Amino acid sequence: MQYRLLSPCHFGLEAVLKREIADIGLNIDRVEDGRVYYSGDETAIARANMFLRTTERVLLLVGEFEARTYDELFENTKALNWSDLMPEDANFYVTKAASIKSRLFSPSDIQRIVGKAIVESMKGKYRTEYFSKSGFEYPVRVTINKDRVTVSIDTSGESLHKRGYRRLTAKAPITETLAAAIIMLTPWKADRILVDPFCGSGTFPIEAALIGAGIAPGRNRSFAGQNHVYVPAKTWKDALDEAVSLEKRDVEMQIRGYDIDPEIVKAARQNAKLAGVDGYIHFQQQDMRELSSQKQYGFVITNPPYGERLEEKAALPHLYKAMGEAFGKLKNWSYFFITSYEDAEKYFGRKADKNRKIYNGMIRTYLYEYYGPKPPKKESPANIIPE
Ligand SMILES: C[S@@+](CC[C@H](N)C(=O)[O-])C[C@H]1O[C@@H](n2cnc3c(N)ncnc32)[C@H](O)[C@@H]1O
Repeated sequence: MQYRLLSPCHFGLEAVLKREIADIGLNIDRVEDGRVYYSGDETAIARANMFLRTTERVLLLVGEFEARTYDELFENTKALNWSDLMPEDANFYVTKAASIKSRLFSPSDIQRIVGKAIVESMKGKYRTEYFSKSGFEYPVRVTINKDRVTVSIDTSGESLHKRGYRRLTAKAPITETLAAAIIMLTPWKADRILVDPFCGSGTFPIEAALIGAGIAPGRNRSFAGQNHVYVPAKTWKDALDEAVSLEKRDVEMQIRGYDIDPEIVKAARQNAKLAGVDGYIHFQQQDMRELSSQKQYGFVITNPPYGERLEEKAALPHLYKAMGEAFGKLKNWSYFFITSYEDAEKYFGRKADKNRKIYNGMIRTYLYEYYGPKPPKKESPANIIPE
């Protein structure tokens, strides 16, 4: 059976998610702002949850339709094939309703009407007036954008950024999905050194190590869909077996995380251990001003402080100026930093080769991209003429 799926992503990072979905062999149907639609059979649901690093969830699309009145919302939702996807004892509930630029805008009313319509639809099939809801959870999500309604079942449950490793966080941690997307936007590969001089709880180094060692982001967690009737248990097990078979644990990587705060460095180490990648990363307490390296062609990928509090904001010009000086001393390196500080580029002192607007929730941030040269190609032994 073929299913239509959709996954949300940060605004501005649709291309990264699209590439990830295509890379695991699924068909892309269309891309919209902040979401990618794709399709596949039940294995696609399990594999998307297991392997996608840059989305928060895998949603099974139940239906899309126009609705300008609550009657239209009710009738169209009722007409969908709910009973093909949920058993009689399913504990279904509308977890979230969001409406943008639409006539129907009250989240609580949308939730209530959709919930009622699902019950009516299920009554028709199961010939009962009462649903115990004593079975597994089936979270339903509804979004309305310009009167176009999208109704889906959430197959992920807890957000996919929760990989299970980050128990301890810095003051302003970046989400795992956003960190992974930024790393995947850069040309970094596991054979190049990567440094995060403001590593906080270690999200960039840990996500890079997971990518480099081919460790699937869903390897150590469970998904709501594991209890759903439309994906057999064996399919989930196959996805996990595939993930394990793709791991390259013996890879060598040079990944470093530094932070000025000794406590957060300890937390980062612990998080890396939980993620099973502590062997690939060196964490150390260090002021960014002391950053130096003998190596060439490395990568800095980081999110520096952006002045969450007013007194911190005053220190930003100095900090970004020092950053510009410290990074500038690294020979032939590339650097990427994401920040919402509007004067970042000015004080850093060098115009970015590219800058990309990315919405981190409601916060508008920019990823500043500075590309260093590529390392010279290694001579293949066959081409080396003995003296
Ligand atoms: C926005 S947070 C980084 C969050 C991190 N990406 C994470 O996911 O947890 C900025 C970090 O910079 C650190 N920091 C501030 N000034 C610093 C300096 N001069 N040198 C090194 N780290 C510094 C803070 O302690 C904080 O952990």
